[in-house]
Amino acid sequence: MASSGKSELVVLANRLPVRKVDTGPSGDQWATSPGGLVSALAPILRERGGSWVGWPGDTGEAPKPFTHDGIRNVPVGLTSGELEAFYYGFCNRTIWPLFHDAVRPPEFHRRWWWPYVEMNSRFASAAAKRLSEDGTAWVHDYQLMLAPQMIRMKKPGARIGFFLHIPWPPEELFAQIPWRRQIVEGLLAADVVGFQTKLAAINFARAARRLTEATGSDSELRYRGRKVLVRAFPISIDTERYEQLAESETVLERVLSLREMLGPERRVILGVDRLDYTKGIDVRLRSFEELLSRGTVSASNTVFVQVAVPSREQVDEYTHERESIERVVGRINGAFTEPGRVPVHYLYRSLPVEELVAYYLLADVLMVTPYRDGMNLVAKEYVASRRDGSGVLVLSEFAGAANELRGSLLVNPHDIDGMAQALEAALHLPKAEVGKRMSALRRVVRRHSVFNWADAFLKAVAA
Ligand code: F6P
Repeated sequence: MASSGKSELVVLANRLPVRKVDTGPSGDQWATSPGGLVSALAPILRERGGSWVGWPGDTGEAPKPFTHDGIRNVPVGLTSGELEAFYYGFCNRTIWPLFHDAVRPPEFHRRWWWPYVEMNSRFASAAAKRLSEDGTAWVHDYQLMLAPQMIRMKKPGARIGFFLHIPWPPEELFAQIPWRRQIVEGLLAADVVGFQTKLAAINFARAARRLTEATGSDSELRYRGRKVLVRAFPISIDTERYEQLAESETVLERVLSLREMLGPERRVILGVDRLDYTKGIDVRLRSFEELLSRGTVSASNTVFVQVAVPSREQVDEYTHERESIERVVGRINGAFTEPGRVPVHYLYRSLPVEELVAYYLLADVLMVTPYRDGMNLVAKEYVASRRDGSGVLVLSEFAGAANELRGSLLVNPHDIDGMAQALEAALHLPKAEVGKRMSALRRVVRRHSVFNWADAFLKAVAA
């Protein structure tokens, strides 16, 4: 147990907080992964002591536990068959589409379910080995929904928290999955089940009452003699980091050079997403195409920069989505390019954070228009970066962030005309209105960082 007096913490997440950068004569070399979750939990793990149990990102035998940057990493290995069935199969072709309002038909296969059970059990065993009798386990996300129950069986006295980073679907959609009761029971073994939004928490509580003997309210369930707190804990970002990056010399120099290259006279519209069919990239681009067709904007005065970060490329739906986006980009550029001025700049790659912030600073408008999204941190990163109070956020009403970021222009991402209208409004919003909206957004993002989020969640688990 660490000197702070708090019990030690074991974090379980599908991915470790590090990624392998090299394998040399002295063994594997690791680098800390970027991202808010890692930066929020790393200091807590260093202070309290404990471990992070996760998948190192490749197949084959797992490396032995190791310490990197003050954190004990406990790798859990996957065979290539398990990668197919557990990660690409059950996690990303069953749960992912189902929990995102079935925007693609989820597939239910018994041959994927059993590897899901097996992997959850492997994660839970690795965690239980490192967990003291009264220690705290924090389980993350949809890949590990059975783990709370498996840990509870081995450590009945532990405090267990579960946080779902993605949405929890409405009752009638969740009811489709053949293993619905096992999943809900897996989660009800936690002391706290946390969600991004109140709606997700309500959806879960309803499913729990319908499918198990759980009783109680939408925020507190009783299950097998135990109390389970069900609540929204909206995740955030390391706000200060983005604020600092936004005034760093490297970033500001990059803004100048990018502006020169894109055309200093042009307004910039930006989209930044993992290339995923839930993100609504195609319809968003079509709303821009609509404005080009109407002559409201032209390639000489406006440019759309779309960053699409490659993701889950082995899943067919992701390949199809990429093809469909690239067709739209090609069509728009074919029809509307003017000499030296291409209307859509499409970057299919991941960018270093400094480059990303440079784009945030360039963008007059950021479009975040997912069909369904747990939270969407890109929206919050943009707001944190806009220190001067300029910039307009066009945000889907189906992103978790829409509950907090009320100063944005909210849109229905399925409605091309509505989005074109919102985009046009965003480009013409009077300066005073832009400032008023952005300062409202900035108040929200500055008040609540990912550190506050982690703190609030762990306090609830300890209570
Ligand atoms: O938003 C859900 C999530 O699983 C995140 O936890 C993760 O960073 C992202 O999607 C990317 O997913 P994957 O780990 O499958 O590449």
